[in-house]
This record gives sequence, C-alpha cells and structure tokens, in this order.
Amino acid sequence: MQTWKIAVVPGDGIGKEIVPEGIRVMDEAARLLHFRLQYDYYPWGAEHYLEHGEFMPADGLQRLREYDAIYFGAIGHPDVDDTLPAIRYTFRVRKGLQQYVNFRPVRLIPGVPSPLRSANAGDVDFVVVRENSEGEFSEVGQIVNPDSETGLALQTSIFTRHGIERIAHYAFALARTRRSLVTNVTKSNTLIHSLLYWDKCIAAVAGAYPDVKYEKMYVDNASAQFVLAPERFDVILTTNMIGDILSDLGGAIMGGLGLAPSGNINPERDFPSMFEPIHGSAPDIAGRGVANPVSAIWSGALMLRHLGKEKAASRIEGSLFAALARGVLTPDLGGDAYTVQMTDAVLEHLIKG
Ligand code: NAI
Ligand code: MG
Repeated sequence: MQTWKIAVVPGDGIGKEIVPEGIRVMDEAARLLHFRLQYDYYPWGAEHYLEHGEFMPADGLQRLREYDAIYFGAIGHPDVDDTLPAIRYTFRVRKGLQQYVNFRPVRLIPGVPSPLRSANAGDVDFVVVRENSEGEFSEVGQIVNPDSETGLALQTSIFTRHGIERIAHYAFALARTRRSLVTNVTKSNTLIHSLLYWDKCIAAVAGAYPDVKYEKMYVDNASAQFVLAPERFDVILTTNMIGDILSDLGGAIMGGLGLAPSGNINPERDFPSMFEPIHGSAPDIAGRGVANPVSAIWSGALMLRHLGKEKAASRIEGSLFAALARGVLTPDLGGDAYTVQMTDAVLEHLIKG
C-alpha cells in the first residue's frame, strides 16, 4: 500500500490538543481511500526548551528532511521568552527546508458567523501567498546602547531577486488554476527601496503570464478591502510580514483564528513541506478541551493535497464544511462543542461520504 512518512510536531498548548484530532481525520480518510500514513512524533517546542534547554535538537532539521511532510501544531509558552519560538524552531524549519511559500486560504464557510455583516458565504474565496524565507523577518539588525539616552535599534529587510521571482511564479501559476487574478499587496510608496524593487521584479514576472490579470494594491488599502470587499480577491501575493498580518485578518473575517490553516511549501519538493494552523498555542484556553480543531484538520487536508491525495483532501474539506454548516461549533465560534465533538462530527460526514 502507498505509504507516506509524516513527522508530527504537536508543540505546546492547544497544539497538543488539536494535532491528534487532525490525525484521527487523516487516518480515517486514508482508510477509506486505501493509503497509509506513518507518523513519528517529535515532542519539540517551548516546554521542551524549559526541560532540555533547546526547542529541538541540533540535528532536528536533518531528521525532518527524511519525511514526506511535517504536520505541526504551534509553539509558545507563557514562561518562555516569546522571541525564541520563531527563531529557534519555526523560522529555522521554514528557511532551512526552503519552504519559501506560505499558503493561507481564506473562505467564508456556510454556518460559520463571519464578523462581516455584508459578506455572503461562498462569495469570499482567496489565498494569501506570503513570501516565507526572507524580507522583513531576516534576523539582521542590532540594538545599540539600549539603556542610554542614545539608544537605537535597527533591523534590515532582505529582498533578493531570486526570492521575489520564485514566489511570484508560484502565485501566478496558482492564479491560473483559480480565477486568474494576482493582487500584489505592497507598500512601495514609502518603502522606496525594498518594496519598489519587489514591485519591479513582480511586474517582470507578470509579463510571462499574459492570461493572468495583475494588479498592485498598497497594504493600507488592502486591509480596508479585506473588510469592505473581500470577494474581489483571488490570489494575494505579498511579503513575509505583510502576509503574516493580513492572513490573521483573513482568519478573522472567516470567523476566527481557530479555522485558519496554512502550508509552508517547498514547491520543488527538494525538502518536505510543513502544514500548521496559522494561530499560536493559545495558552488562555489550553488544557480545557475546547480548542477548535478545524485549523489543524484543514491543515491536514492541505498536506494530503500536497502529497497528491486530492480526493482525500477535498473529502476532508467537504466534511469539515458540512459539520460546520450543521451548526457544530466550538466556543470560539459561539457554539458549545468540545474539541473532540467537533472532530466526531467531521468524521461522521467523512464516513457517510
Ligand atoms: P494565539 O493565536 O495563540 O491566540 C490568539 C487568540 O485566538 C487567543 O484568544 C486564543 O484563545 C484564540 N485561538 C487561537 N487558536 C484557537 C483555536 N484553535 N480555537 C479556539 N481559539 C483559538 O496567539 P497569541 O495569544 O498571540 O500567542 C500565544 C503563543 O503562541 C505565543 O507564545 C506566540 O508566540 C505563539 N505563536 C506561535 C505560532 C506558531 O507556532 N506558528 C504562531 C503565532 C503565535
Ligand atoms: Mg502570525
């Protein structure tokens, strides 16, 4: 039987509660569609750091390279310096494994109350394609004389032609499979070096896709359009930090962060890709069994799609939407279903087919 090897990193807080739910659903899809998923678990993250002094072992990246994909929850703990999780784990994996695409779908789902009063479910369906390996989140910078009157801090963005062109090609190729519109969300009117160059490189790539409509929009206006007219977007192509912020806004217009999935993708498949909810470890609700597992289950569907299991992916997504439409909702969406009950409802629809 076709078998895929998956590295599972549940992480901290609700990561440990929702990752097992995603696995229950993927396993059922695999059983129904006759393939196999084989998991190895890695207990890495901020709690691991409290105990062992490291987020993951020195050979962690080396170990992850052996897998077909990585299924990740979230990391972060109230007792751990919050500047560490990204640098010591998430960015290391994303950069080290050349996962330069961050893929974040935004859809309004029937049955899920969106905070947007005017939006109709079905009208909103777009993807934020965020550059995931360079840009504003480079670790180049310095804090000088922090405690004196002359204190100053600087942090440098890095945009390379190679980095911009490859994410642009991904976005335009993706748009061809959808509604053929790419919106470059930028701020080149004020970031007159880095993002002017970003725009220039993207415009050149756009020329190679004459069948895809290309437009440019400043991020301040784009934030307003997310709320006022989200149905106008198809593929949003943007930088690392702008994409980080906009995709949380995307999660919010869907109805909450507990819904939103993501993929950190290496399109060339030289390295495994990593799939995770966009949210964090949510220590405020951890341990109560009420976390919304939809973000993790949907991330699992994205992972199966990446592995070529389109039918399994779309059946999981369909079951998720059916369960939500039936009104099974966790407390973050105004319901009273526990984590496990939400997953049970998804499984029920999956088995019914
Ligand atoms: P968060 O995303 O963990 O939580 C924000 C709010 O959304 C909280 O009120 C939380 O209860 C709610 N929420 C998030 N996911 C939910 C779910 N599945 N079901 C129900 N409610 C949900 O962001 P916050 O509070 O800023 O960060 C907490 C920790 O997570 C920090 O240590 C932070 O560094 C870390 N973090 C980790 C990320 C990752 O591992 N990729 C990403 C973002 C934050
Ligand atoms: Mg974020």
